[in-house]
Amino acid sequence: MTTEDKKSKVKLRSAEWFGTQDKNGFMYRSWMKNQGIPDHEFQGKPIIGICNTWSELTPCNAHFRKLAEHVKKGILEAGGWPVEFPVFSSGESNLRPTAMLTRNLASMDVEESIRGNPVDAVVLLVGCDKTTPALLMGAASVDVPAIVVTGGPMLNGKLNGKNIGSGTAVWQLHEQVKAGEIKMHDFLAAEAGHSRSAGTCNTMGTASTMACMAESLGTSLPHNAAIPAVDARRYVLAHLSGMRIVDMVWEDLRLSKVLTKEAFENAIRVNAAIGGSTNAVIHLKAIAGRMGVDLELEDWTRIGRGTPTVVDLLPSGRFLMEEFYYAGGLPGVIRRLGEANLLPNPAALTVNGKSLWENCNDAPIYDDEVIRPLDKPLIEDGGICILRGNLAPRGAVLKPSAATPELMKHRGRAVVFENFDDYKARIGDPDLDVDASCILVMKNCGPKGYPGMAEVGNMGLPPKILATGVKDMVRISDARMSGTAYGTVVLHVAPEARAGGPLAVVQEGDFIELDCAAGRLHLDVSEEELQRRLDAWAAAQTVDPADATGYRSLYVKHVLQADEGCDFDFLRGCRGSAVPRHSH
Ligand code: FES
Ligand code: MG
Repeated sequence: MTTEDKKSKVKLRSAEWFGTQDKNGFMYRSWMKNQGIPDHEFQGKPIIGICNTWSELTPCNAHFRKLAEHVKKGILEAGGWPVEFPVFSSGESNLRPTAMLTRNLASMDVEESIRGNPVDAVVLLVGCDKTTPALLMGAASVDVPAIVVTGGPMLNGKLNGKNIGSGTAVWQLHEQVKAGEIKMHDFLAAEAGHSRSAGTCNTMGTASTMACMAESLGTSLPHNAAIPAVDARRYVLAHLSGMRIVDMVWEDLRLSKVLTKEAFENAIRVNAAIGGSTNAVIHLKAIAGRMGVDLELEDWTRIGRGTPTVVDLLPSGRFLMEEFYYAGGLPGVIRRLGEANLLPNPAALTVNGKSLWENCNDAPIYDDEVIRPLDKPLIEDGGICILRGNLAPRGAVLKPSAATPELMKHRGRAVVFENFDDYKARIGDPDLDVDASCILVMKNCGPKGYPGMAEVGNMGLPPKILATGVKDMVRISDARMSGTAYGTVVLHVAPEARAGGPLAVVQEGDFIELDCAAGRLHLDVSEEELQRRLDAWAAAQTVDPADATGYRSLYVKHVLQADEGCDFDFLRGCRGSAVPRHSH
């Protein structure tokens, strides 16, 4: 079918605003014309929204106005009209108490901005961790054609002539300060070289993971995940994405045709191959929930576990996103998987109108150290380990590639912290009753408990243990952890303590068994004793006054548990793009 044939078949959504010669058409067009837009731009051209998370308070996305300019060039070249608009920008590095608290808020902003406005399709400008899921969630609930353009990772960090990785270096250097291995002024001197260009964290943290997820879901053009933020090819990709979204309008290539169960299965497999962040478990579930795609924690076991991790990036491996792009980027990884028949659904459709496999089947790989062959993987048995048991009836996760193999089957005595403040107050206490075989347990850091489920699950070890040279201990909480972090860390315990999960009643001195191979997380107390403690816990609950008003009250009331993606209960599902009423 020619483009002209396609055009004749499509009724533009924006024409419901701009296409009538009456009072409403006058109002919609006239006010827009104050920006100097000639009348012919309203005559049947696709209006493309550029959904921009630019903010100087989200440093990872601070270069997005320039990125948007390149998208606009592409849209104009392809015969569309670009309209850029801001949406809430959840920036990971600055936002307290955690950017996760506002992911759903941002998604609401995105959904309502798209639906309420005269746009036929959207380009989603995303970068810092939460911005990717937030924009995909919001756009999915409207289901217009959408394409993701990521801001790209920072250049490699540098310290004393060596590469250092975003986030991962912070955790490592901080442990070295606490262990007395380096001085505070050396620690502080690392700041500038750590973040030395525009872009997102350059490790395989959550931002890079979610960029890879967007690409493997088929929602972006190939190579979108890895091109460095300051590489001119990032701007070429933005231009090409702008061109492509206009054709997607004529093809009616809406998100629901891309975000299928098959696409999510591909993404889960890719997450294992790249050694991706545990946060992807939550974000993919939330995006799938908006599209009505049924995704279960067990899908991560079924599809992800056993997949070799072949991308040798920090925090699991050695390199950074810059090397990943130069080595061939995500298309190279997908080619490796496909050639070994490890791509679950090669025919899944992507935004360029081709299948994932068509896009990647001859992708060049330039460096086998960075994108390793499947028979020489970084981790043979990658993926995300899903745990269940009486301590996590609705599941918990652990990232094997970031863990110590010997600790993945472990029985230890619980050292219990009631919340993050309690942990901070006591972890440095020389009298803390702890040895390296103990299990650090932290409560009340889940979606309702923190609230917002902060990235505090990778609790730093007690300094007196670090001083003995021990680098890892088993840690368990209902928190998340940064995708740049590492350790034998059990996260996302559900239900969380604040919601009355068994985690709430773990006591100092209890024994806990972790068995990753068996997918088991067990609190070694009798069923009767556990129930007795849970009843007593429930009877003692009161409402925290801080949860009684404001956005926080909405959040605590409606947030779902980690196994359901931490979306708000009332936001799940696709509500479509129709708005039958005019504004006046
Ligand atoms: Fe923004 Fe890491 S803090 S991507
Ligand atoms: Mg992060």
